[in-house]
Amino acid sequence: MSVTVRVPAKVNLQLGVGPLRDDGYHDLVNVFHAVSLFDEVTVTPGPLAVTVEGASIEGVPAGPDNLAARAALLLAEHLGVPAEASIHIRKEIPVAGGMAGGSADAAAALLGCAELWNPGLPLKTLMDLGGQLGSDVPFALLGGTAVGVGRGEVLTPLPTSGEFHWVFALADGGLSTPAVYAECDRLRAAYEQHAEWPHESPALLAALAEGDAKALGAALTNDLQPAALSLMPALQRTISAGRDFGALGALVSGSGPTCAFLASDAEHAADLAAALRGAGVARAAVHAAGPVPGATVL
Ligand code: C5P
Repeated sequence: MSVTVRVPAKVNLQLGVGPLRDDGYHDLVNVFHAVSLFDEVTVTPGPLAVTVEGASIEGVPAGPDNLAARAALLLAEHLGVPAEASIHIRKEIPVAGGMAGGSADAAAALLGCAELWNPGLPLKTLMDLGGQLGSDVPFALLGGTAVGVGRGEVLTPLPTSGEFHWVFALADGGLSTPAVYAECDRLRAAYEQHAEWPHESPALLAALAEGDAKALGAALTNDLQPAALSLMPALQRTISAGRDFGALGALVSGSGPTCAFLASDAEHAADLAAALRGAGVARAAVHAAGPVPGATVL
């Protein structure tokens, strides 16, 4: 008796980063958008263990260091049951890529273990537990498009129309999220930039509600982008190439180094992905659509 959960990657449509807080986090205005790049997590009753399979899984911890194992332990503790979960992850989401793959696996492990140990547990309970594991975990459970405040874990769903088509340019190697936030703070201090309190972008929210890809492309912003580019300058070429090939918008996804390009439709996305591959500015370029639902039992 095992449970398989499919869980999406995210891209940040707006990542407004406020000042550094006393607890080491930053207050955010974080517009999350779930896209059709998925990991599959299978939970089978048995001794707690995590195994991982996929084409590019270097650096993903197996065993108890994986966030999915911590998710199983946290839920077991919450329910007062033994953490008997043998967890197998099939990875498609780029590793350390700024698309919340580790958080997605933790979200899927929470849902899969809940299905085995206490089916029908409210989503809200899982999201609260997820917030203790990482700032992006609750959104991987919720899916769709949502704005997150606080660390990014206090979520409100956003209305959208239609489907948006994206191309994700995957980079060689990853970036560490804490290192990118630290670089953001360093650059702000070096250039004496006061960290403004972030606000939702009305233009972005209107573009989402209207399903207007052109307006959405123009409204995409990421306050972590200068830091990601500073740590990995080659990404500037990738972003510029996507713009030259007609992307409606181009930005670093979250803390990077994956770059996200908005296309006008599926055909445009396929052309854009081929052009990026041909230009040799990415390890791979993949087409995905959003919004899609959050973690789902198959
Ligand atoms: O919450 P999570 O463990 O995913 O965060 C990883 C790191 O990203 C944190 O340790 C912190 O350095 C940074 N972070 C931040 N402000 C946030 C979310 C994350 O500074 N709102």
